[in-house]
Amino acid sequence: MSVETLEPNCRPAFEFVEASIEKHRPIAKDTCQLTFAAPNLASRAVPGQFFMVRIAGQNDPLIGRALAMYDMHRDAAGQPHSVSVVYTVKGKFTQALARRNAGDRVEVWGPLGNGFSTEPIDHLILVAGGVGQTPMLTLASAALGLAAYGEKQVSTPFAKKVTLCYGARTREYLAGLDDFERVCSEVRIATDDGSLGHHGRVTDILKDVLSGSNSRCRIACCGPEPMMEAVSEVASSFGVACEVSLETPMACGIGICFTCVAKVKQEDGQWDYQRTCIEGPVFAADKIFW
Ligand SMILES: Cc1cc2nc3c(=O)[nH]c(=O)nc-3n(C[C@H](O)[C@H](O)[C@H](O)COP(=O)(O)OP(=O)(O)OC[C@H]3O[C@@H](n4cnc5c(N)ncnc54)[C@H](O)[C@@H]3O)c2cc1C
Ligand code: FES
Repeated sequence: MSVETLEPNCRPAFEFVEASIEKHRPIAKDTCQLTFAAPNLASRAVPGQFFMVRIAGQNDPLIGRALAMYDMHRDAAGQPHSVSVVYTVKGKFTQALARRNAGDRVEVWGPLGNGFSTEPIDHLILVAGGVGQTPMLTLASAALGLAAYGEKQVSTPFAKKVTLCYGARTREYLAGLDDFERVCSEVRIATDDGSLGHHGRVTDILKDVLSGSNSRCRIACCGPEPMMEAVSEVASSFGVACEVSLETPMACGIGICFTCVAKVKQEDGQWDYQRTCIEGPVFAADKIFW
């Protein structure tokens, strides 16, 4: 089933599909990768966009949950075919999702939101905390011209180097390391307990990377809000542009309910509420009232 929908402000249409789960596997502690077949969504989503997901035929939880695109897969003919999401098992929805198997169905609408900037830059530094690594794989691939995403399906590299700074509680929670090592120019790890990489915070390795880089840098960041605020402060102290992908709880994902608003600075120095699902989830870090 596929229902095409056009938003009132004439942004590109998103689609609602009932998709079959193709693969579902654990990739780290309490963390799973789920791949669903949805060629129309796979051919349109760009890095940083997300999908709203529900379990088909189940009304509890009633409200869908936002999950960022982790990867896009092509069929034997090279056409976009399926999408992977990665989630941490936490509450009602993710516990129920973790019990689904290949062949079960999910309801998905998207792709939603704005995605990360693709302005050319020398060195793109990705900073991820916990499951905030999810939107970074396609961003790294797109930045280095290794894959094409979105309507145009043209791969145009926009960074010469991509470094991932990835922080997690322990090494068991690091998800998709093989994927990131395959795609990124460099992967730097920080764990709270020192079980892998730097013993400490992801901001420590970010400062190290920024201190050692002579090129023009931009940061793209996703993770828990206190971590994104700390990354934003580091970026500002180094005078480096930073984008953050907010994970504000949301109900509709399509701009109607206003459950997802964030306080965003305006040109006149005042602030206004903006919808994370429409104006975001990616915002300039220095525009957010943390
Ligand atoms: C744009 C966007 C993209 C997102 N992308 C991702 C993604 O790629 N991957 C991902 O995993 N999430 C992502 N999220 C968050 C996701 O939408 C859900 O909020 C999250 O998966 C939790 O849903 P849930 O129903 O399992 O938890 P809920 O039942 O809704 O619980 C709400 C919150 O309470 C806390 N909580 C509930 N139960 C527990 C528990 N037993 N232990 C600890 N804490 C608990 C959690 O912090 C949880 O977030 C994204 C959110 C946004 C807005
Ligand atoms: S989630 Fe409904 S307006 Fe953003």
